[in-house]
Amino acid sequence: MSTPQTSTPRAQPQTYSVKSFGCQMNVYDGERMAELLGAQGMRAAAEGEAADLVVLNTCHIREKAAEKVYSDIGRIVKNANEASLPKPLIAVAGCVAQAEGAEIPNRAKAVDIVVGPQAYHNLPQLVADAAAGKNALDTDMPAASKFGALPARRKVGPTAFLTVQEGCDKFCTYCVVPYTRGAEVSRPWGDVVDEAKALIDAGAREITLLGQNVNAWEGEDEKGAVQGLDGLIRALDRLPGLERIRYTTSHPNDMTQALIDAHADVEKLMPFLHLPVQAGSDRILKAMNRSHTTESYLRIIERVRAARPDIALSGDFIVGFPGETEEDFAATLALVSQVNHAQAFSFKYSPRPGTPAATMADQIAADVMDERLQRLQALLNRQQHAFNAATVGRRTRVLIERAGKLPGQMLGKSPWLQSVHLQTEAKIGDMVDVEIVAAGPNSISGLALA
Ligand code: 5AD
Ligand code: SF4
Repeated sequence: MSTPQTSTPRAQPQTYSVKSFGCQMNVYDGERMAELLGAQGMRAAAEGEAADLVVLNTCHIREKAAEKVYSDIGRIVKNANEASLPKPLIAVAGCVAQAEGAEIPNRAKAVDIVVGPQAYHNLPQLVADAAAGKNALDTDMPAASKFGALPARRKVGPTAFLTVQEGCDKFCTYCVVPYTRGAEVSRPWGDVVDEAKALIDAGAREITLLGQNVNAWEGEDEKGAVQGLDGLIRALDRLPGLERIRYTTSHPNDMTQALIDAHADVEKLMPFLHLPVQAGSDRILKAMNRSHTTESYLRIIERVRAARPDIALSGDFIVGFPGETEEDFAATLALVSQVNHAQAFSFKYSPRPGTPAATMADQIAADVMDERLQRLQALLNRQQHAFNAATVGRRTRVLIERAGKLPGQMLGKSPWLQSVHLQTEAKIGDMVDVEIVAAGPNSISGLALA
């Protein structure tokens, strides 16, 4: 687990900070690492206070995200020097840790700990090793799940993430996830339900079930019956105190009719679906190894809309995949126009080491990608604004998440995951009845109803 002694021993850290990049699963992992360090008697460094241990919970999905960790490390060292403080212990966690392993301390000498996403339950031991002057590295993907070794959930805000599934077996040709997060694994039914109960006891009103392929979740319920994500959602629906359920990210091939049906009749399941299609050209989808077509995706959207007509659709898009012609890209724009998104994420293709697409012929020039991304984002932004505008006049409920900048202003989310501003005396965690009165490109305004 650890390599021989490489530096002078130092005191065990008393304070920590955890900074997460990338996806919501990293946010969840970051929270759990913080809880784990807290259970060791360490405390979170206050705002502006230099922590004794800095955990950088990294993302490897695109080159820009992966490189960010190195500039962050440089900044942490510089800040410590300028303040004449000792360099903090630096831990690189997350997907860059998994992908680059021992190369990280070779490239950035200031790094003391490298810990992969399936090994962070070992963080306390790694911190002790690093403080004792040993370089500590753990990128194992053990058969036993890390979750059992983590402390119970104690204190959370009104919206909480709950990882139910990790890893991916789909091997899209552009994607590092199958390598950094490993094979598809579902957490057991009982563990998920227990964690959901603990989150509700700790103050959660909304739970978002997380997984790289969350709709591939499968498990046996307490009676031994095999259940899919829909069964898990229905079990959570029965938990008193929980108001809202969401899930992300889904793959079109795992979108079962049972899950679609849950959107029709589970009241707590919010009318929102993040279902990435990535591109609108079947030729490109095939080269991406997406194992679905534009047609099969459109049929799913049709069935989802039949079950829940007001559903807000979200997705991910990649422009400039190797070999993408102007015609292929036009097919993506056409698909987006046909579907209408409430929001979506779009990215320029980024070649990732070890993935099949990185060595494909016909890599697309940066300026072509830039221009395509601009056109796609302009269309998606118009759709988002139109979606927001179409909700004006509706009466709905908002879950209050935090205070706004203006006096008396609070911010929350609508069922369709729109950010809502409103004037109210309601507190964080309250559900407020509102009428939507105005819409902008990125948020809406609500009037609290008495
Ligand atoms: N380049 C650009 N975008 C990528 N994504 C995954 N891998 C890459 C890559 N190599 C995008 C996909 C995925 C989202 C999380 O990130 O759209 O759905
Ligand atoms: Fe990556 Fe494809 Fe798996 Fe999504 S489905 S995590 S894009 S390999």
